[in-house]
Amino acid sequence: MIVGVPTETAEDENRVAVIPSVAADLIDDGHEVIVAAGAGEASNWADTEYEAVGCEVLSDRKAVFERADVVFQVRGLGSADVETDPYEEGQIAIGMYSPYEIADGTLEELADQNVSAFSLELMPRISRAQSMDALSSQSSLGGYKATLLAAEELPRMFPMEMTAAATIQPADVFVIGAGVAGLKAIATAERLGAATRAYDIRLEVKREVESLGADFVELDLETEGSGDEEGYAQEMDEEFYAEQRKQMKRVVPESDVVITTAAIPGAPAPELVSTEMIERMDPGSVIVDLAAPTGGNCEPTVADETVHHEGVTIFGPTNLPSRVSHTASQQYANNLRSFLENLLDEDGNLDIDVEDEIIDSTLLVHAGAVRNPHVNDEDDTDTNDSEPDETVDEDEDDYVEATDAE
Ligand code: NAI
Repeated sequence: MIVGVPTETAEDENRVAVIPSVAADLIDDGHEVIVAAGAGEASNWADTEYEAVGCEVLSDRKAVFERADVVFQVRGLGSADVETDPYEEGQIAIGMYSPYEIADGTLEELADQNVSAFSLELMPRISRAQSMDALSSQSSLGGYKATLLAAEELPRMFPMEMTAAATIQPADVFVIGAGVAGLKAIATAERLGAATRAYDIRLEVKREVESLGADFVELDLETEGSGDEEGYAQEMDEEFYAEQRKQMKRVVPESDVVITTAAIPGAPAPELVSTEMIERMDPGSVIVDLAAPTGGNCEPTVADETVHHEGVTIFGPTNLPSRVSHTASQQYANNLRSFLENLLDEDGNLDIDVEDEIIDSTLLVHAGAVRNPHVNDEDDTDTNDSEPDETVDEDEDDYVEATDAE
């Protein structure tokens, strides 16, 4: 197969779908790899590194689409402010296409062109799919970066320290939602020495939270039926969330940092932290709302902006993995390579077997037809349109740049 790697077009996207070492593996697997010039630049891979492992670097991005059998992308397909790319008749496109946000008509057009497009966010959480699970690999980095962002902004240290001058108490960090991103946020906060607490409606994660050294916050809520066997939460009714907010009124104001990651696949994020709770936090406290892309878990969150409310800073980043782009691309490229392997039969020929759970779940459009029609449901990911009445800092250049410590 000819694997094509175009440059990414989204303004805030620093990741690249294939890094040189994975390109080398793909070439070893028997494929050809063509890369658009500059594709790896934002994540610190030079064109010469791709060339050194045997890739062909093309100066024209469009030429990648013209020649590739399979296009590997981070984002695309007309979703999330990304233009639709010039896919060719019969081409295979694989990426993280924000399946709930794809512009109307895009999939139908691709079906007319007989394109097969796979969106990795729809990967089932089964053990066979672990090596292809891009949502998890990227979410984990998002959780890591969220903690660093909070630590950079917070005007206090995370660890406890006894110095000659004073005894410094550890920062109190509260993580809401202990899935992939939340667990990594907890682990990172613990490594930085914070006193960390967490809550999740799936009580089965309590042990994992505790094994990271954090305390699990017990709330008196009827959580039966809150999770499925894949580890995803189910949407609860508004009465449940109202009760949850009521019980969290104590924990949130006690915290210096709150990191929220509560998500339900395909549904808007539940609003769990009210403005009233934030007003009771100490000035200087920091919230990082990772659920910002789907409306946010906090009342004042605005996607991609930094809100200051009565001394509390509320970050609503939508693409933190892109700020750890070197590591994120490395992980993502390996996810894509595993995914491609699963699309090939023993002789290395393309075999899109729709009976395969992984293929069936991720396939958006194939053989001239749109599949997974639910991804076009309206209002699936209603974004938070509540206007903050506080100052909004649109310049997000003050993010801390992480070193790849993981
Ligand atoms: P996940 O599905 O693994 O975890 C979400 C967790 O939230 C689950 O454990 C679930 O049980 C929990 N949850 C759901 N409702 C809850 C409630 N009412 N109270 C407490 N916990 C609740 O998802 P993952 O991969 O950890 O991602 C979390 C969110 O963060 C997603 O919305 C994802 O898109 C987002 N994300 C955003 C990034 C960014 O840059 N903004 C980066 C990485 C992830």
